Amino acid sequence: RQLVLPKDPNLPPEVFHFYPIIGSAISYGNDPINFFFKCREQYGEVFTFVLLGRKVTVALGPKGNDMILGGKPNVVSAEAAYTHLTTPVFGKHVVYDCPNETLMQQKKFVKFGLNTDNFRAYMGMIEDETSMFMSTDPNFTAIHSKTREWGRFNSFKSMSELTILTASRTLQGAEVRSKLDKTFAQRYNDLDGGFTPLNFLFPSLPLPSYRRRDKAQRAMSEFYQDIIRSRRNGGGDHEHEHDMLAALDQQTYRDGRALTDVEKAHIMIALLMAGQHTSSATSSWTLLHIANNQAVQQALYEEQVKHFGLPGGGFKTMEYEDLKDLPLLDAVIRETLRMHPPLHSLMRKVMQDLPVPQSLAAPSESGSYVIPKGYYVLASPSVAAMDPNVWRNPTEWDPYRWMPGSASAAGNLSGALMARSDEEKGEKVDYGFGMVSKGTESPYQPFGAGRHRCIGENFAYVQLGSIIATMIRALELRLPEGMPEHNYHTMVVVPKSPCDIEYRRRSTA
Ligand code: HEM
Repeated sequence: RQLVLPKDPNLPPEVFHFYPIIGSAISYGNDPINFFFKCREQYGEVFTFVLLGRKVTVALGPKGNDMILGGKPNVVSAEAAYTHLTTPVFGKHVVYDCPNETLMQQKKFVKFGLNTDNFRAYMGMIEDETSMFMSTDPNFTAIHSKTREWGRFNSFKSMSELTILTASRTLQGAEVRSKLDKTFAQRYNDLDGGFTPLNFLFPSLPLPSYRRRDKAQRAMSEFYQDIIRSRRNGGGDHEHEHDMLAALDQQTYRDGRALTDVEKAHIMIALLMAGQHTSSATSSWTLLHIANNQAVQQALYEEQVKHFGLPGGGFKTMEYEDLKDLPLLDAVIRETLRMHPPLHSLMRKVMQDLPVPQSLAAPSESGSYVIPKGYYVLASPSVAAMDPNVWRNPTEWDPYRWMPGSASAAGNLSGALMARSDEEKGEKVDYGFGMVSKGTESPYQPFGAGRHRCIGENFAYVQLGSIIATMIRALELRLPEGMPEHNYHTMVVVPKSPCDIEYRRRSTA
């Protein structure tokens, strides 16, 4: 059905579509990964598709990732691609509503707050919030803690709640945690309702949800600025040594200027939005896989017992330093992020004609493709992560592939994960536990790569590791209906409903 249209030979091949403006929006929107794999079969690693009037050139494989994520900011711009989506939600003067050079400094400020000392403080808080959640949330209190009955919870809904509870208790600060009431939830939902693929595709529509978004942004900005002012005036009796506002207070731009209250408030909103869906999607996919795989679940529980078990059947609180000694806990998260990276499409806008390296794709031996200024380019972490040329049994959730020396890695030094093509060439590739490169050419990029790479990765591992360990210590899980499908209609890839997990309390809990 799809044909390459005869075009300027320097343009990458264009995916055939019936409807001029709509283009491939439906196929891409419903299942982008399947769409990319199919297009790759037909057109190779580089092709252009039409997305509601925009030309989007996809570049796949390590070299495609490198061209897009490793590209210079004056050639491929993230702010030009994202600002109309993010600025109405985060607010002015931060992230993509400022020069790239300013964003780089703002990322450094945030990194300063995401330090080991703070992570040490967060571990106990997250464990505490998770235990409280399991003893107060109606889905969990429905089953009496002493009975061995099975109850159920909606994995995505519960994990969304737990993510905001734990993020606000730690990063966002005690004032935010204490004000997580209906008003906050409403504002958050209105903001979130303006952070959707529709908002990306149609930046301004006369719809009520757009007006609600703008109102919520103003209210949320005021909410954070109030906290900042109150702290400055010595108000509040909260402990906030380890939160992000405390870290931002100590930062100055290279020219010596301190952050304004508005910038601090908007960075806090950006962090709230950046971490919320990504982390809650990841924890729900991780729990779903654990519930679906009893052997891994048992091994994970045993890992906890071995490290933290107390004689009476209780558990010692997990410390930050323990995380590195829990390879299976790390591997279940790592493997889940391979199969379900929350962001499937990383976009940039082309600011100057962009020649495609011949080694990636070319119209002929002597020619080169050029992606014209004004196009978008798209890298997909999901495609390389599910590529059978890179991973053995890519559709199988196998955390042990990240644990060299484990049973499923038998006979293969670098674990079950291997770069087959490289191995065939006789090159030694060690993609083993903790060894996958963070570079722009890596086949594993759930956190992106290059100058726009995620700075929340370590926090995410602290948050996810504590939540999952605390739940596994207390509960047995099972998944009678099997793994849910992916919902690609939201900003991040979440499990489609129904995505209920059945649980019962462990007899020792
Ligand atoms: C950027 C994924 C959690 C803050 C990114 C990017 C990805 C990503 C793929 C690159 C976007 C691009 O290149 O277009 C994830 C995943 C997470 C996660 C999978 C959790 C499982 C967080 C958290 C925070 C955060 C918890 C904040 C505390 C950021 C920031 C950027 C970013 C500030 C930089 C944007 C830029 O430079 O353009 N994230 N993220 N992320 N993320 Fe995360």
